[in-house]
Amino acid sequence: VALLEFGPTESYLGSELRPIRQTVQVTFEYGVHFTRGVFAAGNPLFYDVVTGDAPRAPKKLLVAVESGVADANPELSATIDAYCHRYPGSIDLVCPPLVVDGGEAAKNAGDVVAEIHRHINEHRLDRQAFVVAIGGGALLDAVGYAAATAHRGIRLIRVPTTVLAQADSGVGVKNGVNAFGKKNFLGTFAPPYAVLIDFDFLDTLPDREWRGGLSEAVKVALLKDAAFFDYIEEHAADLVARDTRVMERVVHRCAELHLQHIATSGDPFELGSSRPLDFGHWAAHKLEQLSDYRIRHGEAVAIGLALDSTYSWLSGLLSHADWRRVLSLLNRLGFDLYAPELGQHLGDRSDPRSPLIGLDEFREHLGGELTVMLLEGIGRGTEVHEIDEARMIASIARLQHPIATPWRVEWLRPLEPAR
Ligand SMILES: NC(=O)c1ccc[n+]([C@@H]2O[C@H](COP(=O)([O-])OP(=O)(O)OC[C@H]3O[C@@H](n4cnc5c(N)ncnc54)[C@H](O)[C@@H]3O)[C@@H](O)[C@H]2O)c1
Ligand SMILES: [Zn+2]
Repeated sequence: VALLEFGPTESYLGSELRPIRQTVQVTFEYGVHFTRGVFAAGNPLFYDVVTGDAPRAPKKLLVAVESGVADANPELSATIDAYCHRYPGSIDLVCPPLVVDGGEAAKNAGDVVAEIHRHINEHRLDRQAFVVAIGGGALLDAVGYAAATAHRGIRLIRVPTTVLAQADSGVGVKNGVNAFGKKNFLGTFAPPYAVLIDFDFLDTLPDREWRGGLSEAVKVALLKDAAFFDYIEEHAADLVARDTRVMERVVHRCAELHLQHIATSGDPFELGSSRPLDFGHWAAHKLEQLSDYRIRHGEAVAIGLALDSTYSWLSGLLSHADWRRVLSLLNRLGFDLYAPELGQHLGDRSDPRSPLIGLDEFREHLGGELTVMLLEGIGRGTEVHEIDEARMIASIARLQHPIATPWRVEWLRPLEPAR
């Protein structure tokens, strides 16, 4: 009771014990490099990055390669080994590259994280040592989480090998693994030491993965760069036909927009309740989980973009013409814009199978007020704090029963230029 009589700065301990406020400023800087043949004998990039901050050589290196990538590139481990052994005074590869499972399974079970931790411990890696992660977004998330939590953070070099990871997840500042059935429940904000984007890796991607990452390109174009949207639209057929030059430009622009956002949005570690780059993602994350990860992240994002664009249009924010362009482009890139999981148990938000729970989980993940990104136009996002449930259900119905509505015929016509 006595405490209540004192103001917040004047405790019973005495008025001289004032609160202490201190600003801590930290600058992060990392390079995202574009190359081919990153471990080829004559390519100096990797050596330059690892030895860049000089002295205390040789640098300890632990390399983790995703098994899917190792299978597709059988000589990769030997090539990495040979590359490192060319610089014995500078690079100390502590053991042969570890081949670990990737995909969402790597994030759902704790094995990959535990194995990386174990090797970091056994080989006595310190905070000047490097963990090199080579694989898709899921592998990078799991290995990145392990690296960020050992010794409170070991230097991480990411070598993303899917379109999605090169264009989006692999260049950012986050990692994470899944827990309690929730995506990225455990994770940290940890800028990488460097990101090395080697376009050669894309050659061995199955079509599904090649295409999958393009939804993130459409997303960032929709939010930030109308001219980039035009470019993707003009080159949709080239992208589907796996034109590598076009893909390189798309990946580069995506990475650039992503990094600009992180650097200039004022909230790189997402302390606020808004997450502007997560347009379409509340539904995407839920769909991945509801489908038991049958629907991949990129595919789920395409559906999420279609859904929130439709909601934007039905809310009077997005013009009908722009809305058609969005759905048409996603369609031409080969994405399904509906999944059965989206239409189930909609009426009952207490049913864990209702996709609308994704909105609640999205809010919980960020904390604070619900903040959902919508579209006002191509290249222009806008945030709202309330989602009208009936209108969202109507939006889902638009995607679910397209045949019944004449406009579907328009965005289904695959090669028609949408403008
Ligand atoms: N950290 C972030 O900010 C962030 C952002 C977006 C997405 N993500 C996460 O990224 C993950 C999705 O990443 P993804 O789309 O890269 O999928 P993925 O990591 O699941 O990889 C997809 C498949 O491609 C295979 N593969 C990878 N590279 C290959 C290659 N070069 N050749 C042949 N096969 C190859 C893998 O073995 C895997 O089977 C999700 O877990 C998502 O949550 C993270
Ligand atoms: Zn994403």
